[in-house]
Amino acid sequence: MTSRNGLMLALAMLVAGAAAVRPLVEQAVAADDSRRDVQGKEEKLNLRPIIGIISQLGDPAPKHHSYIASSYVKMVESAGARAVPILCDMSPKEVERRFKAVNGILIPGGAQDLRPGQPFFDTVSQLVDLAIAANDKGNYFPVHGTCLGFEALAIVASANHSILSEFDAENLPSSLFLTDAAADGKSRFFNSLPPQVVQHLQTRPYAMENHSHGLAWTAVEENPKLHDFYDVLSLSVDRVGQVYVSTMEAHSYPITGTQWHPEKNAFEWTPDKDIPHHPDAIEVTQEVANFFVSEARRNFHKPASQAEEEDLLIYNWAPEYTGKHRYKGQEVDFVESYFFPPAKELEAQLQQRRQHRSAAEAAVERA
Ligand SMILES: *[C@@H]1O[C@H](CO)[C@@H](O)[C@H](O)[C@H]1NC(C)=O
Ligand SMILES: *[C@@H]1O[C@H](CO)[C@@H](O)[C@H](O)[C@H]1NC(C)=O
Repeated sequence: MTSRNGLMLALAMLVAGAAAVRPLVEQAVAADDSRRDVQGKEEKLNLRPIIGIISQLGDPAPKHHSYIASSYVKMVESAGARAVPILCDMSPKEVERRFKAVNGILIPGGAQDLRPGQPFFDTVSQLVDLAIAANDKGNYFPVHGTCLGFEALAIVASANHSILSEFDAENLPSSLFLTDAAADGKSRFFNSLPPQVVQHLQTRPYAMENHSHGLAWTAVEENPKLHDFYDVLSLSVDRVGQVYVSTMEAHSYPITGTQWHPEKNAFEWTPDKDIPHHPDAIEVTQEVANFFVSEARRNFHKPASQAEEEDLLIYNWAPEYTGKHRYKGQEVDFVESYFFPPAKELEAQLQQRRQHRSAAEAAVERA
C-alpha cells in the first residue's frame, strides 16, 4: 500500500467515523437547549439569558446618578445569565426597548420613594405591566423583587400606597415559616429549591432581612387585589414579635418576591451587618439565582442586533469598590456598586451610537 493510499484510507475511516459520531453530537446539542417540563414535554431553553436590573437614585450614587449594587449582578451571573441595567430614570420608551431585549426583571432592595410620579416606582410599575401583558399572551416572562423590590410589587398589585406597615427587622437574619401555599410542591419557588435548602431556610436564620417596613399578613387578607394576585409562601417574625410576609409568588404569573435578600449571603461583606456566610447560607444565594435564571431561560426576548446587545450589557460599566471604609464607623452597605449617569445623557449617547452604526453599516454595504 502506498502512503497515498494509506492516507486515503485513513481519511475514509475518519469520514465514516464522523458520520457515526454526528447523530451523537446532534443529540447532545439538542439536549443542551431543551429540557423536559413537568408533564414530560420537551421544552426549548434560551441558553443566553439576559436579566434587566433596575437602578435606583441616592446613596451611594453621586447626585443625579443612579446605582446598582454589584451583588445583584453577581447573583445572576453566577447562575449563567448576563445583566442589563434598566435605569430608573429612563424614558418609558427606552424601558420598553430594554424589556423587549431581556428575559427577566430583577428589582433590587434599597430605599426609594414608592409613590406614583417617582422614577423608581414608575419604572417598576411599567415593567410589571409589561410582564403581565407578555405572560397573558403566552410569552413567559419572570420578575423577581427583593426587599424594596418586594414592597414595590405589593404596592403595584394592591394599588394601595399605605399597604405597608412598620416592622423592626433591620439587620435581622431570620428563618422562614412556610405556609400551606408552599407545601407539597405547590409553589414554583420553593419547589425549585433543593430540599436541604428549603429545610435550612426553615430552621436556620439564612434569610437576610434588613427592612423597617413590610407587609403584614392581615394586610394581604384585607386587600382582595393583592390576595387574588399573590400567594403568601412564607412568614417571618421581627424583633418585637410582629409577623410579616417574607416570600410571595403570583398565582398565575412567574412573579416572585422575597422581603429577604438572597444576594447578600454570597456577595455582601459589610462587617457592620450580620449577613449569614455559612456554606449552607451561600447555597441559598446560589439556588435562588438558579431558580430565577432558569425561569428566564423560558423567555426568548432578545436585543435587536448583536451590536445593540453589546451596547446594553453591564460590561459597558465598571463597578467601584464602595465597601471600603474611609473612617472607622462609616456605614457602607455594598461591597461594589455600578454608577450610571442621568438616563437622558445615556439615551442620547446610545442614539448617537445607533446612528453611527447604521451609517458605517450602510458604507460597508455600498463598498
Ligand atoms: C390600604 O391598606 C391598609 C393596610 O392594610 C388599610 O388599612 C387601608 O384601609 C387600605 N386602603 C385602601 C384604600 O384600601
Ligand atoms: C439596611 O437597611 C437600612 C435601613 O433601611 C439601610 O440604611 C441600609 O442601607 C441597609 N443595609 C444594607 C446592607 O442593605
